[in-house]
Amino acid sequence: MPFSTMNPTHPYKSGKPPSDQLTETSPAARKAQVKKARAYYRVHSKFYDLTRWPFLFGRRRLASELPYPRNARIDVAEVGCGTGIMLRQIAGRYPNARLAGYDVSGEMLAKARRKLRPFHDRVTLHEGNFSEDSGDRFVDVDVILFSYSLSLINPQWQTVVMESAENLKKEGMIAVVDFHDSPHISVKRYFAGGHVKMDGHLYPFLQRQFTAHHHEHRWAYGNLWSYFLFIGSPKSSADYLSLNCSDRLTPS
Ligand SMILES: C[S@@+](CC[C@H](N)C(=O)[O-])C[C@H]1O[C@@H](n2cnc3c(N)ncnc32)[C@H](O)[C@@H]1O
Repeated sequence: MPFSTMNPTHPYKSGKPPSDQLTETSPAARKAQVKKARAYYRVHSKFYDLTRWPFLFGRRRLASELPYPRNARIDVAEVGCGTGIMLRQIAGRYPNARLAGYDVSGEMLAKARRKLRPFHDRVTLHEGNFSEDSGDRFVDVDVILFSYSLSLINPQWQTVVMESAENLKKEGMIAVVDFHDSPHISVKRYFAGGHVKMDGHLYPFLQRQFTAHHHEHRWAYGNLWSYFLFIGSPKSSADYLSLNCSDRLTPS
């Protein structure tokens, strides 16, 4: 998968849709986020796969909702691929797919490398901070995945989403599964301890910035917290003109 700077043929280039006021983030704040994530996952990589399945719902479902035939020759990149759970699912599901995983944690990537050994001829893994390090930008990918990574990438999550979208193929898609919100402050606090921001901020942003092909909102353990799946493509300016620009948060 070639790496480069932004894709000059992308629809955003020729008529960028009116976007949310993107929050400016300082390089120092982004560096601090990466430092925290590295320190946290240095420890948690040891037991991540054993302990996260009761929390991180919807990952398999996201892979199964991607709208491609099984034999599709797609390029898929995951930002915050962790131990490679999603990449393995997609590699198994799409035997002709080429995959690239990005993560700031060398320890998480080491686990991913082991897990993805059977697919080594079509999976590449890259250590780095997607939004900061030059040279780790992908271009012309069909799918950019974020599986429980965006809720951690604070404060620069908006920049990371929009910069990655600029590197999609014209018909490319962003696919996200992540926490949405919780009515319980104690639950939010608990997750904040793992650097997760659970403030209902991601899903409405994606709804505004992308045309949804599939989206769903689900509850975990009654109403402890909710999570969402979102698959969508970048809006062209034409889409924007035909849109009712009100907030389109419509969980199913
Ligand atoms: C909760 S884990 C999710 C891993 C995997 N996607 C999954 O579904 O199991 C979040 C991952 O995001 C990575 N991460 C955090 N900040 C990042 C950043 N700025 N750029 C890339 N990866 C980041 C962490 O190192 C961690 O491996």
